[in-house]
Amino acid sequence: MSKVTIITGGTSGIGRGIAEKILANSGADDILYVSFGHNQKQAEEFLHAQSEADQKKLRLIQADMSSYDQMMNFVTRIKKETDHVDWLVNNVGISTYAKYEDYTFEEWSKIVNTNLSVPVFLVKELRPIIREGGSILFTGSYAGQQAYSSSLVYGVTKSAIHFLTKSLVKELEPKQIRVNAIAPGFIETSWHKNRTPESYERINRKIALHRFGEISEVADMAYEILKNGYMNGSIVDIHGGYDYF
Ligand SMILES: NC(=O)c1ccc[n+]([C@@H]2O[C@H](COP(=O)([O-])OP(=O)(O)OC[C@H]3O[C@@H](n4cnc5c(N)ncnc54)[C@H](OP(=O)(O)O)[C@@H]3O)[C@@H](O)[C@H]2O)c1
Repeated sequence: MSKVTIITGGTSGIGRGIAEKILANSGADDILYVSFGHNQKQAEEFLHAQSEADQKKLRLIQADMSSYDQMMNFVTRIKKETDHVDWLVNNVGISTYAKYEDYTFEEWSKIVNTNLSVPVFLVKELRPIIREGGSILFTGSYAGQQAYSSSLVYGVTKSAIHFLTKSLVKELEPKQIRVNAIAPGFIETSWHKNRTPESYERINRKIALHRFGEISEVADMAYEILKNGYMNGSIVDIHGGYDYF
């Protein structure tokens, strides 16, 4: 039977890295559902960067994961097309640099919905078709392990994702579905495109390896966790030694 993987937010950054790692190790009949939010051009660029054989395995679906309804449409389409899912990577996540005193309830809710509430229901809706022995991975963040000063709401949601990961172990035990999270530190993606050299320098001083992580370093680790048959309920940090020295 073909192996079916779903990756949310897989057209850029860490999600794209994980998608490409899975494609590189995929069989001819495997299928990858990759969702994206708003950037159609970026999604097409991702698709066309793959080999012809890999393009045939990809199903790109636009779905704004801050919206419960759009997540449900995404699930409906998947359930129409496949009766099983092997791996689910919940990768979409957003943040804000707004200061706590400037928060609006609307902005708080959008981030909580995208980073936490919608993923909770995505897993709930897909669980019936996730195959016995399947694997779920959340992209958490080291900001959910340790409170950074930069974004309160982001850290709160990522911390909750780590706790959700552990809590889901029991829920998924009857089907022997494993569930883990990765907690990356600063990874070189478009998230950091507006950072000044000074900002990079300030952060690099706090990292023992004095650099941001590469997408491929995170994707390689994510892939190993997805396929490791004994990892369950783990939150795996990857941050180059942030604040450890
Ligand atoms: N970069 C870091 O330093 C870092 C560190 C720790 C954790 N993380 C986590 O890693 C994950 C990916 O981050 P990244 O840096 O790789 O980001 P990225 O390069 O900006 O990629 C984000 C992906 O998510 C999609 N997306 C964004 N908002 C969405 C929405 N509302 N609905 C559906 N899809 C949406 C984007 O599609 P569109 O562009 O089409 O909307 C894109 O495919 C996030 O969960 C983030 O919290 C990142």
